[in-house]
Amino acid sequence: MHAHASATLSERADALEEQMMHELERIVTKSVLFGLADGKVEMESGPSLMAKNPGKYMLMGEDPRLPKMPEKPTLIDYFKCRFASTSHLLQSATHALKGGHSEKVVLACLLHDIAVVSFIRCDHGYWGAQMIEPYVDEEVSWAVRAHQALRFFPDESVGYDYPEMYVKYFGPDYRPEPYIVAEYERARNHRHYMTARLITVNDIYSFDPNAKVNLDDFVDIIGRNFKQPKEGLGLDSSPSAHMWRTMLWPTRFL
Ligand SMILES: [Fe+2]
Ligand SMILES: [Fe+2]
Repeated sequence: MHAHASATLSERADALEEQMMHELERIVTKSVLFGLADGKVEMESGPSLMAKNPGKYMLMGEDPRLPKMPEKPTLIDYFKCRFASTSHLLQSATHALKGGHSEKVVLACLLHDIAVVSFIRCDHGYWGAQMIEPYVDEEVSWAVRAHQALRFFPDESVGYDYPEMYVKYFGPDYRPEPYIVAEYERARNHRHYMTARLITVNDIYSFDPNAKVNLDDFVDIIGRNFKQPKEGLGLDSSPSAHMWRTMLWPTRFL
């Protein structure tokens, strides 16, 4: 009964999605990863999509359902048009700014979870670091990568404990994967250890709901510490430009 009801619901969702697709001028396709997140290993073939949408071409540019991005997007544009939530990033960076930390630490806090809010959760530290690596000082990208592992390990010297929130989210018996433990062991002796550690210290979720946070407070720090490519972020030829382009055009056929 239950299974039947939910199957009907998902069928209805599929039908609605198909109807929406028909209303668009071009055929919007979903990458396999989007289906994996729904528990399905599948893809629809080009010929089948074309047969279902007579007279239409595949979408090979911007998706009209998404906020329009400028021709030469900046990091700020991604914050405004592609990040699903920015309050956690702004609160962490504000906390670091008030703590008197360096601009690199503040920027690392501002960007530490961009993968979570815009791209992919699993291994978000690694994805986030790779996205920003060509555009920031190595200290910043290294710290963003390492913060994911350091979050699981306390450091008494700065008053950082294993997060209560993680006990709540993952259960009391959760233990990080061996590769995370190894990452932590390596990070401990790295020259930028404290930068990554400071991300975890400022990575707070018990926010004051009345605290005012604003991206405008960080425009200058971004300007001084994030190398905006002249072609637009994602339209340049850096080793991670394709990741930004994928956020720009997530439903392009190829
Ligand atoms: Fe994180
Ligand atoms: Fe965070």
